[in-house]
Amino acid sequence: MAEPNKPAILVARAVFPEVEERLRVHFVVETTPAGTVWSQEELVQRLQGKAGVLTTGGERIDAALLAACPQLRIAANLAVGHNNFDLAAMTAAGVLGTNAPDVLTETTADFGFALLMATARRVTESERYLRAGHWKQWSLDLFAGAEVHGTTLGILGMGRIGQAIARRGAHGFGMRVIYHNRSRLDEATEAGCRASYVSKAELLAQADHLVLVLPYTPEAHHSIGAAEIAQMKPTATLVNIARGGIVDDAALARALRERRIAAAGLDVFEGEPKVHPDLLAVPNVVLTPHIASATLPTRMAMAMLAADNLIAYLTQGRALTPLNPEVMA
Ligand code: GLV
Repeated sequence: MAEPNKPAILVARAVFPEVEERLRVHFVVETTPAGTVWSQEELVQRLQGKAGVLTTGGERIDAALLAACPQLRIAANLAVGHNNFDLAAMTAAGVLGTNAPDVLTETTADFGFALLMATARRVTESERYLRAGHWKQWSLDLFAGAEVHGTTLGILGMGRIGQAIARRGAHGFGMRVIYHNRSRLDEATEAGCRASYVSKAELLAQADHLVLVLPYTPEAHHSIGAAEIAQMKPTATLVNIARGGIVDDAALARALRERRIAAAGLDVFEGEPKVHPDLLAVPNVVLTPHIASATLPTRMAMAMLAADNLIAYLTQGRALTPLNPEVMA
């Protein structure tokens, strides 16, 4: 029911009841049933008359949607990545975008390391073998994997999460850490995570374990394809916890099948939740459904941050983590 003093918002994907409760203090809230993902057309329909929307990385806020939803003032993403936002179009339409950084950094780095370990030490491949009843005897080289401690950890994209992974590798596993990034970190930050800057070619050639943590942009599309994989060590592993589309999944599946690299761990996929069928067909890849930030406390913190951005902006004209702050001016 319309409440004259409360703006209306849409929560475009089911969130925790505590988050809805907080939003209801300030807004008339339309929620989305668990398991529902709106098509773009349905999203536009549900956004009619809404001043704000809480999105996940799965809802596209683009020029066509903005033109069809003139009352929209803010889209608050429950994700640190925001490649689902056309920020230039949002700014042109006077719509604020916010994301959910920081609260997920350490949790996501934990998962990056978990995926690295599972990939190097063949955790899921060996579990499938055991569950299928193939384990008849111990043998010396049964599921022998790659060493992790003391090896070279390569990181492509050295933002907050990349740095947190570097700290784990350097301080926890005695790894030599090298990284490549659009811009080099200052000396103190490099020293804090014991990481050395190298060119992308050096990163590819030297890493024993390469972890991708860069944001998705059109320039980052297929940053790792057949040509890049060809520069990696045949014993190397590759982990992607960044975004689908950064890796050319078909080229990677081919390289894994031909053992051009040892193994891969992927939490994100181009066109997810679809997964390239060639990846499903190779044994030396660990596949997880975009869960790098998925602990209950962290997902709660991300959802609350998105909610707080909606509340701060629609009630006071400011936001906690704005992506296009010029809109607030
Ligand atoms: C998850 O992928 C995020 O960007 O927060």
